[in-house]
Amino acid sequence: MNQLSETRREFLPAAGRDVFLPLYDPIVSLMGGARAREELVKQANIQPNQRVLDLGCGTGTLVVLLKRKYTAAEIVGVDPDPKALQRAQKKVRRAGVAVQLDEGFADELPYEAGTFDRVLSSFMLHHLEEHEREKTLREVLRVLKPAGTFHLLDFAGGEDKASGRLGRMVNSHARLEDNSQQRILQLMRRAGFVDAEKVKDGSMLFGLLPTAYYQAGTR
Ligand SMILES: C[S@@+](CC[C@H](N)C(=O)[O-])C[C@H]1O[C@@H](n2cnc3c(N)ncnc32)[C@H](O)[C@@H]1O
Repeated sequence: MNQLSETRREFLPAAGRDVFLPLYDPIVSLMGGARAREELVKQANIQPNQRVLDLGCGTGTLVVLLKRKYTAAEIVGVDPDPKALQRAQKKVRRAGVAVQLDEGFADELPYEAGTFDRVLSSFMLHHLEEHEREKTLREVLRVLKPAGTFHLLDFAGGEDKASGRLGRMVNSHARLEDNSQQRILQLMRRAGFVDAEKVKDGSMLFGLLPTAYYQAGTR
């Protein structure tokens, strides 16, 4: 667990521990992260000049992908981990793109209401404690503009999780038990989203790790 310097709040970092952070990008890449994020971006149907938030942006791979693809869009990433944000900043600089990166928690977003047309989030939800999830979804709803949409990608949990040894390993590290389709859709609806739905099943690690894509709208 890490702590955000000002608030001293805890969070689960990208690779579980800081010492493993340098391995995060290569491992996710080997697992098929690029294809999974491309699919999420495709589903978000982003239009030129829209404002897009990457919630739990980590080391910044998705924000760079977004800005390269939608050069006229305003891309913002938020994450509580200053070490991951440092890596994201380097990645952004190397890519020669302009992206705003902010330190913050998903359930206390440092943005005005109605700021974003799209909120995307990849592999972040399972890092949240149960009590943080609904508050996070309410925050996402708050910062979305009217007619804005939320697009979520995460490992499948609950009854949809990976089975066998791999399933046990992933579930023990993360909070995937709460990541069932039923639970996520229930939380989205309870937070006030309309048309919350699972849009697609996916997988990573050569089909061994099931993933799921969700989307929900403000009205
Ligand atoms: C597995 S990583 C995913 C990073 C990135 N979205 C990606 O696709 O590679 C999970 C991220 O969630 C962040 N995180 C953990 N707790 C969080 C919270 N309460 N609010 C926002 N982000 C959080 C971690 O710091 C980490 O960067």
